[in-house]
Amino acid sequence: MSKTMNKIVKFLTTAALATTLASGITLAAGGGNKLAKDIDFSFEGIFGKYDRAQLQRGYLVYKEVCAACHSMRLVSFRNLSQPGGPEFSEEQVKAIAAGFEVTDGPNEDGEMFQRPAVPADRFPSPFANVEAATSANGGAYPPDLSLVTKSREGWHFPWYVSPFIKLVKGGGGAEYVYSLLIGYEDPPHGEEKEGLHYNPYFSTQWLAMPNPLNEDAVEYADGTKASVDQMARDVSAFMAWASEPKMEERKRTGFFIMIYLGILSVLMFLVKKKIWRDLH
Ligand code: HEC
Repeated sequence: MSKTMNKIVKFLTTAALATTLASGITLAAGGGNKLAKDIDFSFEGIFGKYDRAQLQRGYLVYKEVCAACHSMRLVSFRNLSQPGGPEFSEEQVKAIAAGFEVTDGPNEDGEMFQRPAVPADRFPSPFANVEAATSANGGAYPPDLSLVTKSREGWHFPWYVSPFIKLVKGGGGAEYVYSLLIGYEDPPHGEEKEGLHYNPYFSTQWLAMPNPLNEDAVEYADGTKASVDQMARDVSAFMAWASEPKMEERKRTGFFIMIYLGILSVLMFLVKKKIWRDLH
């Protein structure tokens, strides 16, 4: 049954997508930037789940590359071992946390101090405050990435097809992050803007973040080749998880509620028939 339902939803979405594209009314997100590339992530669809190995790789990319500039304040180290996520072991999480320094205090002299993080701590920000982060990045603030796949959309569709597309494909937040990471290009007409980099997927096409990924920037423990494309996919998936760590549970619960409602509807129908039988 689950397969059939998935197929029906996929069919409806494809039909909606096709008509939308055919009639040429797709709108790009914001000021005429490119629509995100559509990636088949494992967590899409009604029964989609995160790919544990991918989340573990994505974490590595975040830590080795992105964490130099971006915080992830809503994620605690212990979340990394919880079900439905990367599911690192508790030992691994302790070791991961110990690799980060957090500010704690005040101590008895009233002073703040640095200590290695523990699993209950949240991912610290690489900068002391927003001003420090902004000034270190040439006047642009590297946003906190905890909810970034929720706060960005890879595509915009008219309201009458949007719910169907979102049901299967989501808002494209992870696709947007992926596209942004692989989307750096030489600017057209050799144009240059001081301190900005050309990327057609960004809302204004010029952003302050320099291209953060280059081949083999990390070394994956599972032997996967760390191509730019692979790292971009993995870190985007990791961010999708960070934005919605309870997604698998939500989908599971939702599915059982639908079954429950289905059974309840049948019962209610039979009850109604029975009550009204004599009145016909
Ligand atoms: C050298 C510092 C630096 C590194 C490393 C870095 N970023 Fe950024 N990032 C920035 C800055 C600065 C901005 C803000 C850009 C702007 O608004 O012009 C930004 C913006 C972003 C945005 C938001 C774009 C938007 O739509 O507003 C995302 C998503 C992002 N970075 C993801 C990443 C990921 C994923 C990594 C790791 C692979 C990463 N960044 C590594 C500095 C960095």
